[in-house]
Amino acid sequence: MFHSKIAGVGHYVPDRVVTNQELTNYMETSDAWIQERTGIKERRFFEEGVDTVSGMAANASKMALEKAGIEIKEIEMIVFATLSPDYAFPGSGVLLQRILGLPGIPALDIRQQCAGFIYAVSVADQFIKSGTYKTILVVGSEIQSNIMEISDRGRNMSVIFGDGAGAVVLQQTSDPDKGILSTHIHADGTFAEELMLEHPGSKRKERFNNEMAAKGELLPVMNGQLVFKHAVQRFPEVIKEALDANRLSTADIDLLIPHQANLRIAEYIQKNLGLRDDQVFNNIQKYGNTTAASIPLALSEAFIEGRIKEGDLICMAAFGSGFVWGSALVRW
Ligand code: ACO
Repeated sequence: MFHSKIAGVGHYVPDRVVTNQELTNYMETSDAWIQERTGIKERRFFEEGVDTVSGMAANASKMALEKAGIEIKEIEMIVFATLSPDYAFPGSGVLLQRILGLPGIPALDIRQQCAGFIYAVSVADQFIKSGTYKTILVVGSEIQSNIMEISDRGRNMSVIFGDGAGAVVLQQTSDPDKGILSTHIHADGTFAEELMLEHPGSKRKERFNNEMAAKGELLPVMNGQLVFKHAVQRFPEVIKEALDANRLSTADIDLLIPHQANLRIAEYIQKNLGLRDDQVFNNIQKYGNTTAASIPLALSEAFIEGRIKEGDLICMAAFGSGFVWGSALVRW
């Protein structure tokens, strides 16, 4: 029986820091409003002509490969999670494959929004467990500041989301006590329209026209309070599911890395599960919600800061648009 381990983790964020104060130049908002409701102090915005979703993913991937001591040519598959691909189609996986110079290997895009990275890890883990591949690059990368309106009209969402990328290299191991212990993924499409970006989509009552753009129909929409309600239920549920599946308890968690949705959600989960501050890692204060990139970006920073040691039990969990949610338990 094969298992997969995280051999290396990396991240990349654009240079441009956008503080809450800067946002007040573009919309009616305040540092106090944003911090009180989300915990976010600043985020990164991509640099036009410099950063692309696939390019940022390549930078994060190169760091992950370097940390793993693995050469690019050893990668046998790419699994790429994003809700903001370079193009509507084809997906960003093939673009990353092109940048890395790996023609022929499979590149799969995952469209599970904030739970995209957990789904991507779960898919990659199955390919490794089955013995199909030994080394898989799993990436989450987002440029969301380009699909939201940095204005009064878009302020309910655009203050929350940011740009960034994170990547892990998954590698086959025969040590059953190390690496990914299990992954757990779920979905409930009942709530698909509660957090969504309709365009460019094919489900329209009428053909796309300029009036729709003028009315702001090109912007994502979010029922924030409903998302909050479901997130605080699903996160603890799916974390407990992972612990139960491995006969472990919350006391065994060395570090929980929740998807960086909103600091208030993370704090609620921490309280609900009775976790100490040192058992939870958050960096949303610096980057905002980077959707599919948020978990590998947090994992990479936690690793660099020395918060992850060999033998630690790491729990990653996410909830997002779909609704979709999931968890992954890793023995480092
Ligand atoms: N700055 C200032 N005021 C704002 C802003 C802003 N950026 N955005 C909205 N407002 C105003 C609203 O217009 C409203 O004004 P009104 O009272 O005059 O009508 C007021 O603030 C309150 O708006 P609400 O939407 O009720 O604000 P709420 O307190 O619910 O906070 C928030 C919104 C932060 C989104 C909250 O609902 C929440 O935390 N939801 C969880 C969802 C979330 O975190 N989503 C992001 C992640 S999605 C994911 O990763 C799963």
